[in-house]
Amino acid sequence: MSAETKTLVAVLMGSKSDWETMRHTRLTLDEFQIPHVCRVLSAHRTPQQTAEFVTQSERDGVEVFIAAAGGAAHLAGVVAAHTVLPVIGVPMQGWAVQGLDALLATVQMPPGIPVGTVAIGKPGAINAALLAASILGGKRPELHERLRAYRQRQAEKILAEELS
Ligand code: RP5
Repeated sequence: MSAETKTLVAVLMGSKSDWETMRHTRLTLDEFQIPHVCRVLSAHRTPQQTAEFVTQSERDGVEVFIAAAGGAAHLAGVVAAHTVLPVIGVPMQGWAVQGLDALLATVQMPPGIPVGTVAIGKPGAINAALLAASILGGKRPELHERLRAYRQRQAEKILAEELS
């Protein structure tokens, strides 16, 4: 896995304002040494470029897409419309109703075009990277080993908690 340099995950977000949350996706992908690219592309503001990016990324060997957007969050669905690769949607908290709008817009895909949707905001940004690692780990046992070690560290941390 560490020898792998080809970009495996493309992380898209609808606005630079999503980066404060989505940098946690990058940090987590980095932790697992998963080569990735992060781009601002919007389903509504750059529809043509979004479609072209997805098509080109698929040609270049990307294996998982992560797409984050807030409000009328159509980015993950639009990405999924242009590829048969796995697409993980991350709803952003946005400016109203604490991200419930983005959650519903991301998760309520019509049958036939799936988007795997994770939690709103930072927990979703982290889990999107972990889910991508799980998917990629199907062909890369060393990545599954890293995930097992991560779970182990997590469990040890919980078990070591002391309450005053
Ligand atoms: C969405 O609208 C973006 O993903 C972002 O979450 C939200 C606000 O975008 P900006 O107005 O900050 O560019 O499309």
